[in-house]
Amino acid sequence: MENTLSIVKPDGVKKNVIGEVISRFEKNGLKVSALKMLHLSKKEAQKFYVVHKERPFYGSLTEFMSEGPIVVMVLSGDNAIAKVRGIMGSTNPKEAAPGTIRADFASDIERNIVHGSDSPRSAAYEIPFFFSSLEIL
Ligand code: RTP
Ligand code: MG
Repeated sequence: MENTLSIVKPDGVKKNVIGEVISRFEKNGLKVSALKMLHLSKKEAQKFYVVHKERPFYGSLTEFMSEGPIVVMVLSGDNAIAKVRGIMGSTNPKEAAPGTIRADFASDIERNIVHGSDSPRSAAYEIPFFFSSLEIL
């Protein structure tokens, strides 16, 4: 059993695919253990993506992630971190495998619908960023 953090990004909420994204996780055997909708400030988005602080896309990424509401969730299951990454597809939708969330819904490398923790270390930072232990069931 492993926990990971996933986000339906502002473009996913605008495109009305919250349910579709969650459904793909559920159909692949993952359990939703925590879930909420919120709107990050630019400062909060900068803190969440601090690992990318030196990247050229940091400014535009944090602008994008704070442009509208997002849906954040904890997903649980065997190998949840890798499983979620597989269901999401590659960062760039042009390179994402057919049938993945990004291949089906993302418009470009930045506006790519969904986030998933990339390692146990990032999950350990990202889950408590959004949820207290009382909120994870
Ligand atoms: P994420 O963290 O959101 O799950 O995505 P990821 O691991 O597939 O990609 P990562 O390298 O961690 O990048 C984080 C997010 O930044 C945006 N990005 N833009 N313009 C660009 O070249 C570029 N590269 C990345 C995307 O929104 C990406 O998901
Ligand atoms: Mg990442």
